[in-house]
Amino acid sequence: MQRLIINGGKRLNGGVTVHGAKNSALPVLAAAAVCDGISVIHNVPMLSDVEETINILRHLGCGVTREGDTVTVDARGADGFEVPNRLMKEMRSSIIFMGALVSRFGKALVSLPGGCNLGPRPIDLHLSALRQMGLIVEEQEEPGEEGRRDCRLDCRVEKPLEGCEIDLTLPSVGATENIMLAASTARGRTVIQNAACEPEISDLADFLNRAGAKIAGAGEPTVVINGVKSLTGAEHTVIPDRITASTYMAAGAVTRGRVTIKKILPAHLRPVFPVFLRAGCELQVRDRELTLTAPARIKSLGNVKTDYYPGFPTDSQPPLLAMSTLADGRSQFVETIFHNRYAHVDALNDLGANIKVTESMAIVDGVKKLTGREVEAADLRGGAALIIAGLAAEGQTVIGGMNYILRGYDDIEKRLAELGADIRLEE
Ligand code: EPZ
Repeated sequence: MQRLIINGGKRLNGGVTVHGAKNSALPVLAAAAVCDGISVIHNVPMLSDVEETINILRHLGCGVTREGDTVTVDARGADGFEVPNRLMKEMRSSIIFMGALVSRFGKALVSLPGGCNLGPRPIDLHLSALRQMGLIVEEQEEPGEEGRRDCRLDCRVEKPLEGCEIDLTLPSVGATENIMLAASTARGRTVIQNAACEPEISDLADFLNRAGAKIAGAGEPTVVINGVKSLTGAEHTVIPDRITASTYMAAGAVTRGRVTIKKILPAHLRPVFPVFLRAGCELQVRDRELTLTAPARIKSLGNVKTDYYPGFPTDSQPPLLAMSTLADGRSQFVETIFHNRYAHVDALNDLGANIKVTESMAIVDGVKKLTGREVEAADLRGGAALIIAGLAAEGQTVIGGMNYILRGYDDIEKRLAELGADIRLEE
């Protein structure tokens, strides 16, 4: 197992370039399987979740090649519609292949997805929406590995999917993406009400429209999709990862540093700017980059409540909560999206933080210092929180569970070392 070794207390200075957005690259790669053609996708990050998605594409009969951050997907020969359980289990976003396969072939054999343990992660909204369009989904339990029961979803159509009006009870990112994929080649018009508005939704729609789809309103609460017969391939550049950008901002803030975050879309980071400003950081925002200058000691982050975009992103809560452990004052977090997204709190308290969690609320009373020790990441963004704390802690922090962190952060230890951190990856 890989571990991250950090000798904390180094002030971070310099520039870091942000990789392409994981949560955009994954659905865009899945959407390439819908296309009866070749797609060239740029700015694809080097992440284990991307590798898993490429494995699924190859399993479906797509030809996939990668050169640097460009992935080429030739889906002309794709003929598979079944994603084996072992591939579905690797990550949450594998469920996107249900919409992609149904859109291309009118059938799919998938299973309930895997992903970080953030509490129950149902797909009821995905299933009810696609069933509304005419998809028949039979849920079958079958024996899995280690005596687990795996739930397979046998999806098929008896006639082409029909567009319809779908009201999402909550603006689910994954459900919005699955509906867009299925509706792209359905008959007639689909209207999604209460759609997710995250930038990754707009990015997926941009790719699909380049491939011949007719999607309007992506990024707004109402999205209209007029079905077309089929999609060709398309060339696309994935947007920068706003969550990784906010993580590097937190690293600069917590080490009294001055960091320039490059190749970003500042508009996507607007939900987190007020929190950094409240903490006493100075932000200079230019066209595609920003420079964060931290104070000698950050102030309280105030009240931070996660919400759907354009609210404060739940994925930025763990790294910014870690930063708040060293603030001069009390910060309060309310996590409204997931029911179990404080798994990183125990490890942060082991490092000397003073955090109390009650239900969805975390009260963080800033302390003067953290002390490094061995800790274990329990999920992707919780792992990022431990890195932020380790960068500021006195002494050595050893972080296990790097497999979680490598799912979403491309070469994070190299990027932080370039900024002056004393950090290395150890097998
Ligand atoms: C996406 O997950 C992201 N993952 C998550 O990022 C992100 O935290 C989340 O959106 C919210 O922004 C990818 O894009 C691969 P949701 P997703 O459906 O689609 C409930 C990371 O660290 N819900 O918007 O799974 C669900 O339980 C990951 O990069 C239902 O009840 O999120 C949750 O409470 C973590 N029924 C809420 O909605 C459903 O059918 C938001 O989930 C679907 C979701």
